[in-house]
Amino acid sequence: MSAALDNPYWMPFTANRDFNQQPRVISGAAGHWYTTADGKELYDTFSGLWTSGIGHCHPKIVAAVQEQVATLDYCMGFQVTNNKAIELADRVTALAPDRLNHCFFTNSGSESVDTALKIALGYHRARGEGNRTRLIGREKGYHGVNFGGMSVGGIVPNRKVFSAALIPGVDHLRHTLDLEHNAFSRGQPEWGAHLAEDLERLCTLHDGSNIAAVIVEPVSGSAGVIPPPVAYLERLREICDHHGILLIFDEVITAFGRVGKAFGAERFGVTPDIITTAKGLTNGVIPMGAVLVRDEIYEAFMQGPAHMIELFHGYTYSGHPVAAAAGLATLDVYEEEGTFAQATALEQHFEDLLHAFKGHKHVIDVRNFGLMGAIEMAPRDGLPGARGAEAHKRCFWDENLVVRAGMDTLQFSPFLNSDPDEMSRSFEAVRRVMDTLE
Ligand SMILES: Cc1ncc(COP(=O)(O)O)c(C=O)c1O
Repeated sequence: MSAALDNPYWMPFTANRDFNQQPRVISGAAGHWYTTADGKELYDTFSGLWTSGIGHCHPKIVAAVQEQVATLDYCMGFQVTNNKAIELADRVTALAPDRLNHCFFTNSGSESVDTALKIALGYHRARGEGNRTRLIGREKGYHGVNFGGMSVGGIVPNRKVFSAALIPGVDHLRHTLDLEHNAFSRGQPEWGAHLAEDLERLCTLHDGSNIAAVIVEPVSGSAGVIPPPVAYLERLREICDHHGILLIFDEVITAFGRVGKAFGAERFGVTPDIITTAKGLTNGVIPMGAVLVRDEIYEAFMQGPAHMIELFHGYTYSGHPVAAAAGLATLDVYEEEGTFAQATALEQHFEDLLHAFKGHKHVIDVRNFGLMGAIEMAPRDGLPGARGAEAHKRCFWDENLVVRAGMDTLQFSPFLNSDPDEMSRSFEAVRRVMDTLE
């Protein structure tokens, strides 16, 4: 078999054959840097995969995980539970907006999203509105790869192959990225709030009383950082309130400091009914996600005979004690080190570095919000994605930099506790690569 085909490891969201020609394998990390087996040090411009905001191998989290794995490695999470899961639910809900006081643990963002959609359907049914079954997502939305999340998601290649198996009764709002009107916006674009009216149109089409929930990322991440237009999220909230529709914010990326607050909801001043999270909950150290729900939603399930299970849903690893210990240590660090304020203090520098790429030969847009940023390059004729892929590889091999490319858009998710000079140097390196890109 050729070298390109004989790697037993089938990598996720990766061009496997191309990768296998020149594997990029990381074997260690400390703080803001990765290391490879041959001693190369690489600066991580993506904080893991939007996960590791306070840096890799944070000693406090490492110690908490080591201690927990030697104390209680696992216990059943159905019918009994562990002390760390209870403690973490308390801590997370204390950070959440008002009335989102109940927390269901999962192991990933995808599971959080599918859990949230199921809770939304169950909630309406429990209240005698079982007709509310329709779910609304948004074009370019990313809500993970399970069937629910994929169905409400709006990234075409993620859906294409599975088109016939997507769940029925789903509609999408239009996305809000329009380079004619909002290219090179710094932060939230002024243009685009009117696109929230798509929801009102769908309420007219289906009758709002048939719609269960709307799910959006407050800032779209995986589609290449698309901040919400000014007043857009507020308008979605109003329309949901008017029609009795639940608003779900998918905060798998935007929670835990990425936009300078514990949750994007707080930053935008818009409170959803359900929040999905993962990633920064444990700083990426152990897989874990959480779904936070408003009191009324939880209470709606708490009826019928008290010995009966109220929600037939859960994962073997829901509330895993080692993950929960990692989560508790992570929240401690956020508090002790003032991580969210650190992130806020870096925003302007980050924005300036990104927007300095305006006018570069390949660049057609730059977008940013909080510590989320993107530089979109024009695709090569007939070869979409090739320029971005080459930029990623050249950053790795020539500049010792891990940069994420989503098609031809370079995405940036700097550490919440970045050193501003390190951040500047990383963008100088990106520029050197882009200057020589065809
Ligand atoms: C907004 C959003 N939702 C869901 C997910 C899926 O998370 P996971 O990959 O942990 O399943 C992601 C992952 O990037 C995400 O950004």
